[in-house]
Amino acid sequence: MKKDFLSIADWSSQEMKQFVDLSMKMKTQPEKYSNSLKGKSVALIFEKQSLRTHVTFDVGIYQLGGHSVYLSQSDISLGKRESIHDVAKNLERWMSGVVLRTYAHQSCVDMAANMKIPVVNALTDYEHPCQAVGDFLTVKEHLGDLEKKKFVFVGDGNNVCNSLMLMAAKMGTDFVAATPQGYEPPKEVLKLAAEASKETGAVIKVDHDPKSAARDADVIYTDVWVSMGQEGEREERLRVFRDFQVNRQLMSLAKKSALFMHCLPAHRGEEVTDDVIDSKQSVVWDESENRLHSQKAIIYALIAAPEDIMGR
Ligand code: CP
Ligand code: NVA
Repeated sequence: MKKDFLSIADWSSQEMKQFVDLSMKMKTQPEKYSNSLKGKSVALIFEKQSLRTHVTFDVGIYQLGGHSVYLSQSDISLGKRESIHDVAKNLERWMSGVVLRTYAHQSCVDMAANMKIPVVNALTDYEHPCQAVGDFLTVKEHLGDLEKKKFVFVGDGNNVCNSLMLMAAKMGTDFVAATPQGYEPPKEVLKLAAEASKETGAVIKVDHDPKSAARDADVIYTDVWVSMGQEGEREERLRVFRDFQVNRQLMSLAKKSALFMHCLPAHRGEEVTDDVIDSKQSVVWDESENRLHSQKAIIYALIAAPEDIMGR
């Protein structure tokens, strides 16, 4: 049976740890996996813009010996020119997997439910699970053990925050989402994270004061205040998030060794200042590089050798 990579919540703590370990192997021993996707094709369907996710899936599939076909919204007009069901039924006849970036998370769920081949969520309005795997690889490389670390997300309780919170709960990393009132991660995500943390002992919290949240942090992470699809709320969001900027003052409350992280693209001068994103503490380019290795691990595990990570 195929398994999709739609949400961190669908995978056990042990499996998520295996994904991080496999990402590390992809990085250190790439030659071992270079033919694993030979003769296989993967569709990359993007309803929204992308630099990192598009390029790293394309390059990663090539490095695994496979072939990718990029389909933008102007090519296939998912759900308009043709229903998700009908697109799925076509693609499964030619491809070995689908990587999908959509607005509505439900579109990703529907695509997966209608096809026999694995679907990877490349960002929806609800989650960005590939980002979270790459980011925890980055944290592990820089800080070693992931347990007993304090990971603080400052800003909007959005798709990236949701995946990082679920990932932290699965990895045993303490996590604080410091958001304005009304911009917390959805209750469902908080509940799933609380359930996962029972097994790992991670402490998962929501705070509304970025300063108290940042105190003694090992990681300070932020993302844009206006995500793709929220452009109409820009003015209001700039006002609401004004006190949630990651600047030198906020970073000075964290540990001296703290990392600054951002999924990118960054809106410099809004959620982060130049002197933070360009500082020695910033690991944003490592995060970008690690998207490549972690997505190779995800594609490999789902399409090339599912028994490796799923024990079957
Ligand atoms: N971080 C990230 O997913 O970047 P892109 O939107 O450029 O793919
Ligand atoms: N939260 C952002 C992440 C971009 C990678 C968005 O959805 O636009």
